[in-house]
Amino acid sequence: MSLFRRREAPKVDMSRLPRHVAIIMDGNGRWAKGRGLPRRAGHAAGAETFRTIATFVKELGLEYLTVYAFSTENWKRPADEVAAIMKLLEKYLHEAIETMARDKVKMAFFGDLSPLAPHLQQLCRQTQEISKGYDGCQVNICLNYGGRDELVRAAKAFALDCVEGRADPGHLTQEAFGGYLYSAGVPDPDLIIRPSGEVRVSNFLLWQCAYAEFYFTDVLWPDFSKEELLRALAAYQGRSRRYGGV
Ligand code: IPE
Ligand code: IPE
Ligand code: MG
Repeated sequence: MSLFRRREAPKVDMSRLPRHVAIIMDGNGRWAKGRGLPRRAGHAAGAETFRTIATFVKELGLEYLTVYAFSTENWKRPADEVAAIMKLLEKYLHEAIETMARDKVKMAFFGDLSPLAPHLQQLCRQTQEISKGYDGCQVNICLNYGGRDELVRAAKAFALDCVEGRADPGHLTQEAFGGYLYSAGVPDPDLIIRPSGEVRVSNFLLWQCAYAEFYFTDVLWPDFSKEELLRALAAYQGRSRRYGGV
């Protein structure tokens, strides 16, 4: 018998899909290294995977997809790598604008876009603006995003509302605080997927992940396929979500 037994096709119940899936798109650098390619080639391959998976998520009928594209910590990387990632993003946004009327995907950005190049900020605003009326799948791109940064910004915005008389600290609820986050109005992720073998959250959706199911796989993001997503969905459906109850 072969050592490499074919894995069975994942069985997914299409009537019990999660509403919101979030993905930490990790492993691009290692994918490139393994092929003797520069890291930017890994990011380019990762961007292709994102296109494939975003389209598939929409076909499956999931309501929300949130992807971690660039963290508040990723600025520590060499300038040429950061530039390559930004260039890929620009290319993707141009394409998205062209195909938006057909795809009807609503796009949103989580993160502080102000350090990005002005034309990139403009593209983000444009994609958000064009697609805001679409009500099919919503894709949230986390860009210069960090969970702690998001929480500190929310705390500051709330404090300002208190100082200016629009809010009262005594009446703050979890729901109201959630309204100060980038994810305001978006339900918490049901399933968070991290490829690449790392088993950590790396500052992703710290508030929103409270009761998310996590799925980790060794597959590197550029190799992540539709079948991998189905496998993650099947694993999710095998979990028992108790939210602290019985
Ligand atoms: C994820 O892949 C992409 C970003 C963080 C922008 P990495 O570039 O982190 O890939 P590895 O983890 O080095 O393999
Ligand atoms: C998380 O991956 C950020 C993104 C995928 C955008 P990292 O590669 O930056 O995370 P660490 O450094 O392994 O924790
Ligand atoms: Mg990484």
